[in-house]
Amino acid sequence: MKEVSIETKLQVFDDVSDLPDNVQKLMASAAEARDNAYAPYSKFKVGAAILLDNNEIITGSNQENASYPSGLCAERTAIFYAGAKYPDAKMLIMALTASSNNQVTDKPIPPCGACRQAIAEYEIKQDLPIEIYFMGATGKVVKSNSLANLLPLGFDRSFL
Ligand code: THU
Repeated sequence: MKEVSIETKLQVFDDVSDLPDNVQKLMASAAEARDNAYAPYSKFKVGAAILLDNNEIITGSNQENASYPSGLCAERTAIFYAGAKYPDAKMLIMALTASSNNQVTDKPIPPCGACRQAIAEYEIKQDLPIEIYFMGATGKVVKSNSLANLLPLGFDRSFL
């Protein structure tokens, strides 16, 4: 038996105003998208914005359903739309923000496991890391240089 350890490096910014200008702009697009979330059940609104290498910004928000599992997270709404509309564009940066009617979201809120898996697929497809920035509605922002940092031991096409 041998033990293996996996290390993840993340960067933490104290406030959105500390981000590079283009990322602040992307986070503002994510916050705008968040306001369009359809979240009557959870009252938890998430916004995602993706900067493409053709300079387009694609946004998405969570879309819920009375049949709960039929809804979709903001990240996948955005990334599937980006993939559908610009299949040849590369995704450079994704910004995420979430707010709740039930509590103050002042801590960074990371993407769920299913969204990490979906984002990983595109990172592998385009052979270029996607930078992920995530936050609550206010407060610190966490940056991961690549989705792979957020999904150690991921399942990918190499196993098929
Ligand atoms: N949600 C997202 O949009 N992204 C995530 O990464 C986590 C969860 C949504 C799904 C659901 O509409 C609500 O937040 C509560 O789980």
